Amino acid sequence: DDDVAAELEELAAAVALSAGRLIVDERPDAVEVASTKSTATDVVTVMDQRSQDHLVARLREARPDDAVLGEERGGATGTSGITWVIDPIDGTVNYLYGIPAYAVSVAAVVGDPTREGAWRPFAGAVHNPVTGELFRARTGGGARLVLADDSDRMLAPTACTDPALALVGTGFGYAAQRRERQARLVLDLLPQVRDIRRIGSAALDLCAVAAGSLDAYYETGLNPWDLAAGWLVATEAGAAVGGFDGPGSALTWACAPGLVGTLPELVAEGTRRHLRDA
Ligand code: IPD
Repeated sequence: DDDVAAELEELAAAVALSAGRLIVDERPDAVEVASTKSTATDVVTVMDQRSQDHLVARLREARPDDAVLGEERGGATGTSGITWVIDPIDGTVNYLYGIPAYAVSVAAVVGDPTREGAWRPFAGAVHNPVTGELFRARTGGGARLVLADDSDRMLAPTACTDPALALVGTGFGYAAQRRERQARLVLDLLPQVRDIRRIGSAALDLCAVAAGSLDAYYETGLNPWDLAAGWLVATEAGAAVGGFDGPGSALTWACAPGLVGTLPELVAEGTRRHLRDA
């Protein structure tokens, strides 16, 4: 119910803020690459693991019966039916280079986040520790942006109705073959929209649509930890959101409601054409 969701939204915000302090304060000695995953450029910094350990410990201390699914190794199983889906640093490459667009993403979900289409986030927070922005939401409660000085505002997408005037965010995976197909889709779209942005953090992209600093965002092949909290923030802000499936899912998108019927269709059509088998 709403009391539980409100409590878990509060916890998501608190742990995202404390992990945010950790990743900024200790960046100088924890920014080096610890290992790589799918490719040589899909890196894990020392801090990705440290931030995840911090989040798992804080969440398990507060909610010992909940499960935790994180991007890095070392989640936790639980019995409550609630799973915390966490990305300890979304935008790891930006973190590595010191580009101020990375975030901690924390969402409480019901269902099984490892099964496509079988889960839904209901409370969550995305925090950019460099700008201090904290995006937070729970089902039915709207989405809010809280700034470092504690001021806050409700979020709402733009009034954009024309794809040709839309500023569109996207992102790319790490594997070369997928990137080539994603580039073909960009080639199709770029002449048809205002411009394209590649911010480097899917969680912040979804929050940007919620806040009206992008008109739309799409990406193929996201993982649950990239999108769980941002998806909820965008939905609760009143953005149109689609293609929310699960690990490795084909297409995730969010846009201003006035773009429904045009932009998502353009993106979906391009995805079918270029990314069907990727
Ligand atoms: C990545 C970022 C990036 C997106 C990639 C993600 P990570 O997450 O969200 O913007 O394009 O698909 O993998 O690896 O920095 O946590």
